[in-house]
Amino acid sequence: MKIAIDGPAAAGKTTLAKRLAQQLGFLFVPTGAMYRAAALAHQRGIPLENTEIMVDKNGRVFLNGEDVTDLLANPELDDLSSRLAVDPQVRARLVELQRKIAEAGSVVMEGRDIGTVVLPDAEVKIFLWATLEERARRRHREQGGDFAEVLEALRRRDERDSTRACAPLRPAPDAVVVDTTDKTPDEVLAVVLKLVEEKRAGFVCRADS
Ligand code: DC
Repeated sequence: MKIAIDGPAAAGKTTLAKRLAQQLGFLFVPTGAMYRAAALAHQRGIPLENTEIMVDKNGRVFLNGEDVTDLLANPELDDLSSRLAVDPQVRARLVELQRKIAEAGSVVMEGRDIGTVVLPDAEVKIFLWATLEERARRRHREQGGDFAEVLEALRRRDERDSTRACAPLRPAPDAVVVDTTDKTPDEVLAVVLKLVEEKRAGFVCRADS
């Protein structure tokens, strides 16, 4: 089974996808972290054609063999990864890799274009959403700094991610939109697990009939 989780920055995609993958025994694939690793490679002056990005079964991200997972939350990479993600060549390289990972088995993949471009045939598609103010509050709690600046940086990134020409952030027509604004991570997980179980039950019925 393939589960696609898309949505804007700080909507809770990574928390949900990680816990969902754990519960279901699926691979967890954080594609935002892959764009961040590509941004790190760019910062280090590594040309795109020499940039190899791997994700292991626990969602740890490797850049040319080095485990860079713990470097990726750096706020400098927020903006740089979003700017780099506009480049169709960068996207083509990462999308190819993401599809290859998904071929290996059941996955929970999170990002911006998973349900629309990377895995259009995913059986479950979730578009995770929360108001800009709530997402800014969450990011501010994690990163600190000036709240107004955190909010403005998120707004700019939302705008860039959703207006780019190549694979913009938007819900797939068959995605279920889950508003997380007033929900705890546990509540969001419960909503999505229920959707997954309904889908699985649907498969069984079809197989039996
Ligand atoms: O999910 P994140 O904030 O770590 O992602 C960082 C940036 O990477 C995000 O601003 C846009 C880009 N991205 C993308 O274009 N497509 C994806 N599937 C995942 C992330």
